[in-house]
Amino acid sequence: MEDYLELRLQEGADWGLWLARIEALRSSLAGLLGVRPGELALTSSASAGLNSLASALSFTGGRHRVVISDFEFPTSAQIWHAQARRGVEVLHVPTTATGDEVPLAHFEPLIDEHTALVAVTHVCYRNGARLDIPAIVELAHARGARVLLDCYQSVGAGPLDLASLGVDFAVGGMMKYLLGTSGSGFMFVRGELIPTLEPLATGWLAQADVGAMDITGHTPAPDARRFEAGTPGVVNSQAAAAGAAILDHVGLASVGARVEALVTRCLAALADQGVAVATPQPPEQRGATVAIRASDAAALVEALARHGIVTSCRDGNVRASFHFYNDDEDISRLLGALARERALLR
Ligand SMILES: Cc1ncc(COP(=O)(O)O)c(C=O)c1O
Repeated sequence: MEDYLELRLQEGADWGLWLARIEALRSSLAGLLGVRPGELALTSSASAGLNSLASALSFTGGRHRVVISDFEFPTSAQIWHAQARRGVEVLHVPTTATGDEVPLAHFEPLIDEHTALVAVTHVCYRNGARLDIPAIVELAHARGARVLLDCYQSVGAGPLDLASLGVDFAVGGMMKYLLGTSGSGFMFVRGELIPTLEPLATGWLAQADVGAMDITGHTPAPDARRFEAGTPGVVNSQAAAAGAAILDHVGLASVGARVEALVTRCLAALADQGVAVATPQPPEQRGATVAIRASDAAALVEALARHGIVTSCRDGNVRASFHFYNDDEDISRLLGALARERALLR
């Protein structure tokens, strides 16, 4: 980010260098996600990608439904509800009675020949529960529906191979485990689908030939850049590139192994102390977040901050999230602080 400021002062707007750096980010992110650079749009947020995709999808021909889970982040539900004027009906796949899981069996009756899209989160932002994406993809594809994955809560916290997961679309962003900053997101669109999708939400940097500056028509880029729009957040992209370089250096397999081990040890330690959690126990059913049940979640977040521990709260739970740079000492400090703040636990 400092480098961006320096360049801005010395050169003004060096578009050549800016765009070259954005293409470098596209390539390194594609490497981390197991996809081709041309299948990735770099966006200002996950929402921007979703809106562009929504504007390109067709909901005619009897397929007018979007199936989402009750684990979705608000934007990933609201954008589909916003398509109601275009005839879209949104079906919600409910959680179990505890609210902690959305089992595959709950998807089964809701996906059928009227489903255009199944739009699901990989890991729930509220409690860190992980959905069974390969099984959901299999079910949706068998019934002719496309699958969109919101991987914001999983990307960067371990290996994520979008091509082998078989999803048609994916959105995410750089602000969490990708170690970037706000104002930067991405969208993956499976290569074969790109020519069939022409977004209504567009802009000059989504054109096939950006340099043509043609105002007499509109020719979308042949690759996923067609889902982009205007002047990119260059400074945010540079932060994203720095984060991606760190993850590339550490390796997502190592990151994933470390995160899983830390979450496993943290859950075991919490259970030992009788602290209730909303996060599923089996490793394949969770991500990098542990959600601790609180009697006053906002007060517990504040209390933990006084102990030097940064957490956040959602849904009456306090979220503690792990990355490769955390260690057992962090778990001990969290447990120690929770022991002193017992009154705020549920
Ligand atoms: C699952 C999920 N999706 C999306 C977002 C954010 O989307 P956007 O980049 O549009 O703000 C978040 C942010 O916390 C998230 O957790």
